[in-house]
Amino acid sequence: MESVPIPGTELNVSRIALGTWAIGGWLWGGTDEKASIATIHAALDKGVTLIDTAPVYGFGRSEEIVGRALKAYGRRENICLSTKAGLEWKNGKISRNSDPAKIAFEVEDSLRRLQTDVIDIYFIHWPDPKMPFEETARLMQSLKDQGKVRAIGVSNFDPEQMTTFQKVADIQVCQPPYNMFERQIEDALVPYCKSHDIALMTYGALCRGLLSGKMMPHREFEGDDLRQIDPKFQAPRFGQYLKAAARIEQLAKDHYDRPLLPVAIRWVLDMGIEIAIWGGRRPEQMAPLDDIDGWHTSDSFKYAVEELLQETVIDPVGPEFIAPPA
Ligand SMILES: NC(=O)c1ccc[n+]([C@@H]2O[C@H](COP(=O)([O-])OP(=O)(O)OC[C@H]3O[C@@H](n4cnc5c(N)ncnc54)[C@H](OP(=O)(O)O)[C@@H]3O)[C@@H](O)[C@H]2O)c1
Repeated sequence: MESVPIPGTELNVSRIALGTWAIGGWLWGGTDEKASIATIHAALDKGVTLIDTAPVYGFGRSEEIVGRALKAYGRRENICLSTKAGLEWKNGKISRNSDPAKIAFEVEDSLRRLQTDVIDIYFIHWPDPKMPFEETARLMQSLKDQGKVRAIGVSNFDPEQMTTFQKVADIQVCQPPYNMFERQIEDALVPYCKSHDIALMTYGALCRGLLSGKMMPHREFEGDDLRQIDPKFQAPRFGQYLKAAARIEQLAKDHYDRPLLPVAIRWVLDMGIEIAIWGGRRPEQMAPLDDIDGWHTSDSFKYAVEELLQETVIDPVGPEFIAPPA
């Protein structure tokens, strides 16, 4: 599997990271621990060396499952773990809190749940406007200096917020959303990261399944699945996105004789993104990992995707619905 160095660190990670939000169950209709552990092991067997999690994914459950999976697998020194801080929950309600005093406790909880003594990449999950970014940055730098964290990351920050943060601590990794349907970062965030030597580790490569090649118009979302409220999955937009996905699927077949899923992931990597996070929770979902390396999407393919998106998605919407209240 292709790998990439994280600037300013000794880390070298696979260009695909396994995302474990769904493995935590919360907002994905529940979790199955045995299948989750098998999924993590399947990804590692296929060469993935970076696992992304967060305390809020199942309120500790995802981190615990990742910790158990890694304990059983061994070779911790060859695997990079990324997790996050700065979200809290009460009665199922999420709010942002990047108070350094709170994060100093959070990091210990994450280390315990993950059964490790170091977090390879530690992200602030969402910018907290109530807390000066400099104060949070100071705590993150101190965690790095203490050796509890190897790289500092921010997620869902804009360039202005990152500039303020970087007055105190250098950022090594940035985690925004990015996929064929959600390209808002191209104008400002990508150039900022490139010019500041910050690795982009983007989430939602399959746009919550829309680009998996398996999404059906009548798919029922169980329990608390967030796609019940995702505006992309509501009529009439859902139809537009499904039509666009079907046309990209045809393009993928015509250009590369490949299914939609590996082409959607390859497209992210070929757009200059260092690492694409791909969310899965069943081991068989990891099979397409074998089909991502050794080829590239062409400029003509990328152009054809842009053209068809303009024709089919006449009422586009971004991933903003996902943001917890500021
Ligand atoms: N920093 C942040 O604020 C943030 C926000 C969102 C996500 N993330 C991270 O990014 C990760 C990925 O994002 P995501 O989970 O939202 O979305 P994603 O990777 O775009 O898509 C996950 C979806 O793809 C489907 N899928 C995966 N492999 C498949 C396969 N082989 N065949 C068919 N369907 C397949 C899953 O289907 P099923 O539903 O059938 O399982 C799931 O619905 C998360 O797990 C998390 O680690 C971070």
